Amino acid sequence: MDKFVIEGGKPLSGTVQVSGAKNASLPLLSASLLSGGIFKLYNTPRLNDVITMLKLLEHLGVEYSFSGSTVELNTAGITHTDAPYEWVKKMRASIYVLGPLLSRFGQAKVSLPGGCAWGPRPVDLHISGLKKMGAEISIENGYIIATCKRLHGTKINFDHSSVGATGNLMMAAALAQGTTILNNAAMEPEITNLARFLTLMGARINGIGTPILEIEGVDALQPAEIHTIPDRIEAGTLLIAAAMTRSTITISGCNDIHLYSVLAKLQDAGAKLNYTDDTITIDAQELELKTVDISTGPFPGFPTDMQAQWIALMTLAGGVSTITDTIYLDRFSHVPELNRLGANIIVHDNSATVRGVSKLTGAKVMSTDLRASASLVLAGLAAEGITEVLRVYHLDRGYEKLESKLASLGAGITRVSGSEY
Ligand code: EPZ
Repeated sequence: MDKFVIEGGKPLSGTVQVSGAKNASLPLLSASLLSGGIFKLYNTPRLNDVITMLKLLEHLGVEYSFSGSTVELNTAGITHTDAPYEWVKKMRASIYVLGPLLSRFGQAKVSLPGGCAWGPRPVDLHISGLKKMGAEISIENGYIIATCKRLHGTKINFDHSSVGATGNLMMAAALAQGTTILNNAAMEPEITNLARFLTLMGARINGIGTPILEIEGVDALQPAEIHTIPDRIEAGTLLIAAAMTRSTITISGCNDIHLYSVLAKLQDAGAKLNYTDDTITIDAQELELKTVDISTGPFPGFPTDMQAQWIALMTLAGGVSTITDTIYLDRFSHVPELNRLGANIIVHDNSATVRGVSKLTGAKVMSTDLRASASLVLAGLAAEGITEVLRVYHLDRGYEKLESKLASLGAGITRVSGSEY
């Protein structure tokens, strides 16, 4: 298993391009199951999770090529409608094939995702929505077994926002008989990217980008091409790297509107930001880091996927800050590792209280999940001395060549393959 060795304290400078969004790419890939033919997905990030999804699609009968950042899919020869545990245990987002397979083929057998590093992540909203659309669903031996003649339109109200359930049910509704309303739908940019893709395929969707989606089912969809939106979480992570190392950098190929809540908090913390159409420049050279409390929420609120990175930043702020996660109540496995680097963080229920310290000091730390590992890399960039971040396979799930991007900006970071852990 690989590790990162980081020599902290080096300032960053220059420009780096962000990759396509993991959390857009995964549903976009799944949507190709809704029609036979040739699809092209541009700006696809080369991530372990994307490879896992491509291998699952291949298991279902999809032929694919992945050249540069373009994925080409041929979905004319679907031979299976099952997503085995072997795939789903590696990536919860495999659940995204459930809606398309059921809606197009009338059947699907998808393993229930297990828990993840920070606890259970249910799929009850996915299942209850498909049942309301007419699916017969049973849970047998850890699998969701779903059948239907043809799904029918209905009204679905989400008690709370769910990105995955919104995406899955929107894809299912695209081929249903009649109109489906998704009330309290997720508005994340990745869901908007998916809705636009479905529209290009011939789906009829009103309310894109709002919490009320109206999908009028059609009898068939056609293949299409789409550009994956930039990864707002990678962009936010790189901006915090600059803030923690008191650097000035520019990130390109990103859309500031997708990240406005994080940018606003960075400015509250004292960072200077400038924007063009597709770049964000952060000037943190003279930054006197102020404490800023955050509470995560559905888009356009502060994203839970930036919570760990924000805690890392606040470890060096002048004072006490509170970080509350309202989406995942126990997503704090990064805290003990950050404390090993000299941070002073206490977690109570779904809130972390961070008492800023004057410095962090390098140590060996263990990645536990994707965004936790990102927070450890950020802390290592600012810590005095050497930090080793172990088990970076977690990070490779959602960041494309992060160490190369950071090194191109001047960071002292190298990947060491095959480490003892
Ligand atoms: C997506 O996960 C993202 N993953 C997550 O990013 C992100 O943290 C999450 O949305 C929230 O923004 C992908 O897009 C592949 P949810 P998802 O359904 O769809 C509960 C990362 O780091 N819930 O919006 O699984 C759930 O437990 C990953 O890139 C139910 O109760 O998240 C959570 O508390 C991590 N029942 C809340 O809703 C359900 O049926 C939001 O989950 C579904 C979800």
